[in-house]
Amino acid sequence: MRDLKQIREEVAACDAQLARLLARRMDCLKEALLYKKGHGLPILEPATENGKKTGAEKERGPADPARDVYGEELEQIFACISQMGKKVQGKALLDHNIALIGFMGVGKSTVSHCLRDLLAMEEAETDAMVVEAEGMAITDIFAKYGEPYFRRCESDAIIRLQNRRQVIISCGGGAVTRQENVECLKKSSRIVLLTATPETILERVKNSRERPILNGHMDLPYITGLMEKRREAYEAAADITVSTDDKPVVEICEEIIQKATAGDFS
Ligand code: S3P
Repeated sequence: MRDLKQIREEVAACDAQLARLLARRMDCLKEALLYKKGHGLPILEPATENGKKTGAEKERGPADPARDVYGEELEQIFACISQMGKKVQGKALLDHNIALIGFMGVGKSTVSHCLRDLLAMEEAETDAMVVEAEGMAITDIFAKYGEPYFRRCESDAIIRLQNRRQVIISCGGGAVTRQENVECLKKSSRIVLLTATPETILERVKNSRERPILNGHMDLPYITGLMEKRREAYEAAADITVSTDDKPVVEICEEIIQKATAGDFS
């Protein structure tokens, strides 16, 4: 039987080998990213080969005897490896934040969650930050203190995000109507304006009771009028504009990444 020192040495050797292999794997993922960019291929498309899954599941191989013994543990390890792979790609793609702006119901939260999942990025929602800081719902803040107070809280949330990087920031629909918020966001973010028609917006928000701005005004003329009023502010703030009408969320995310990283790779 080997002594403890020998066993420990082999464990250390395994770790060193694993670290080298994992670094190589991450280098490959970055190289794949460059290849996709260079060949005009979709960036976020999940890796597929002959219609089958690649990634951890395939790399491990169906006939791998280690799976019989350590199946559950390997499953978890590869899930983590896959997550870290996404993170490496996310970092290679973006060294700034992505700030999503646009009218209520354009899909900022949905797009934000999808980008977060695809690139293992951090996510921040200004509304959620305000709710947390104030300990009450947005509707209650509006009812108790009024809209100007809410806007100050929203600006505070945006200031708190100004030194962060590689975060998906989902802004409340009225955030960029304040110029100070736009200037603060611009310091660290590509600002992405999501758009949709008033009809699409109404369809998406009509059952919501959480948007005080629309309470008692859940109709097309009001939404169209407010969108028009805000249009200049949205367009002036935006670095990139992406329409969300009739598009699957992954397609919207792909368009964002393509536009936000255009020119970043050679
Ligand atoms: C608002 C939009 C809301 C929220 C608040 C005010 C607005 O966020 O910040 O109710 O003025 O457009 P969503 O755009 O996420 O709904």
